[in-house]
Amino acid sequence: MDSSDFLEFLKTRSSVRIYENEHLTEEEIEYIISCASTAPSAGNLESWDVIVVTDEEVLAALAQAAFDQAHVEQAGAIFALCANYVRSMSRYGERGILYGLEDATIACTYMMLAAHAKNLHSCWTGAFNDEEVRDILDLPPHIRPVSLLAVGRGHPPTVRTERMNPGEHVHREIW
Ligand SMILES: Cc1cc2nc3c(=O)[nH]c(=O)nc-3n(C[C@H](O)[C@H](O)[C@H](O)COP(=O)(O)O)c2cc1C
Repeated sequence: MDSSDFLEFLKTRSSVRIYENEHLTEEEIEYIISCASTAPSAGNLESWDVIVVTDEEVLAALAQAAFDQAHVEQAGAIFALCANYVRSMSRYGERGILYGLEDATIACTYMMLAAHAKNLHSCWTGAFNDEEVRDILDLPPHIRPVSLLAVGRGHPPTVRTERMNPGEHVHREIW
């Protein structure tokens, strides 16, 4: 893939919120996780974990915890990305809170792009009630849920989202 193919690959991904209610294959799940495990992480501690959810009742409960976002229930799987604070804080103390969140976020990004590479669709889902998600997934206290990545076969929107002009983000040398 050359650099213009890479940009095109990124531009052709959209968040998808309508799914076919069809499970992912084990091969697809493993591919997505293998891609995430290549991600960089602070101190190479890989301070992220993921809970792969395919059970219909658990998906329904997660959808409710995500303020009734239907795509969470319809997805082929939810990859619940979590920061693992024991891993990150054991070396980095308070700074490890930030690193754990960053590691989980990068892993989620890799998974989202891995899904796209497999011609699957996805939607990063960050709006949810933390405590409810903790209860549903039985998360221990040192694990913070960061995102519920919905992945499946679905229907991309016909109109792509727009972006700011890239230059609007950029400052040179100082703010
Ligand atoms: C941190 C984060 C949280 C998000 N949370 C939600 C969410 O709860 N529900 C949802 O439908 N989309 C969510 N999204 C998806 C964004 O709405 C979407 O990426 C943005 O509108 C740009 O659209 P695109 O992904 O199709 O390019 C989230 C994305 C990010 C990165």
